[in-house]
Amino acid sequence: MSRLQTPVCDLLGIQIPIVQAGMSTYTTPELVAAVSNAGGLGIIGGLFRDADELRDEILKVRQLTSRPFGVNHVVSQLDSGAIDVTLELRVPVLSLAWGKADEIVRRAHDAGMKVIHQVNTPEEAGRAASDGADVIVAQGAEGGGHVGAMSTLPLVPQVIDVVNGVPVLAAGGIADGRGLAAVLMLGAQGVLVGTRFLATPEARGRGHSKDVILNALGSQTVASKFFDDVLGLRWPGALVRSIRNPLLDRWAQRQQDWALAAEQIRPSLEAALAAGDFVIAGESAGLIHDIVPAGELVARIAREAEALLG
Ligand SMILES: Cc1cc2nc3c(=O)[nH]c(=O)nc-3n(C[C@H](O)[C@H](O)[C@H](O)COP(=O)(O)O)c2cc1C
Repeated sequence: MSRLQTPVCDLLGIQIPIVQAGMSTYTTPELVAAVSNAGGLGIIGGLFRDADELRDEILKVRQLTSRPFGVNHVVSQLDSGAIDVTLELRVPVLSLAWGKADEIVRRAHDAGMKVIHQVNTPEEAGRAASDGADVIVAQGAEGGGHVGAMSTLPLVPQVIDVVNGVPVLAAGGIADGRGLAAVLMLGAQGVLVGTRFLATPEARGRGHSKDVILNALGSQTVASKFFDDVLGLRWPGALVRSIRNPLLDRWAQRQQDWALAAEQIRPSLEAALAAGDFVIAGESAGLIHDIVPAGELVARIAREAEALLG
């Protein structure tokens, strides 16, 4: 039996404990299906999609794979129509982050679904476990997108220590087999990976965003409230990690103005996002040197980790 076949694989019905993060509109049905077909778990990003769009995405994934997959929802930004569609279509796995979810977890379990809940602190992990999550994701601040304050290395074992045996996946800063092998040593049963999957042909890029990721060093990301303040998102406890760029640098010293000048800054931010000049990504960008089909990436990370563990 493979060294990578941890109990969470049986729980989720997968062969390799590599989960692709549900990254809002950056996921495509092709990405999700490729990861699931390779033996990992692909997750559709539910954030910023309405019920009709999400239904289409789910049905397309079902045409491309018969393997388990998931849909992600951010609890603090919930679209009730979109969560209803996810539950109605009984997607195998519901992925949650950022918020208390006991009621949603109950509804998902009633629909026969498994629930993965991503957290940023040991306290949230304890709450997610008592709310009934089947799998907890410990997300370190190295990661891309909305992140908390603790780093992956100390967070993962502290989460494991408080969740009474609920399987834990590590997220934040993992992009290759070294990362997977390392967090298995911490006691995690697998990984959830975001940034690395952005550099695949299947991920939905923006402009030249994939090239920006290939060229970035891990030292060139920054986590701040800029994105949320300017777009008017209320997201308590979170910063957004992105790759540094001229717009961010220009406003860096004027944090008090971000929300106040949001109307003025927003067109520039939206244009930079669309062009791929403002790229949401984590420190692992510095580990990414090629665009690889998502299925090959799953196999490569697994192969590297197996070799290291051997
Ligand atoms: C572009 C991007 C979008 C993201 N969107 C979401 C999201 O909609 N919901 C969510 O729970 N996490 C989201 N995340 C965070 C991931 O779930 C995950 O925790 C993170 O990517 C892990 O760190 P890594 O990027 O170093 O792999 C996003 C991450 C990125 C890079």
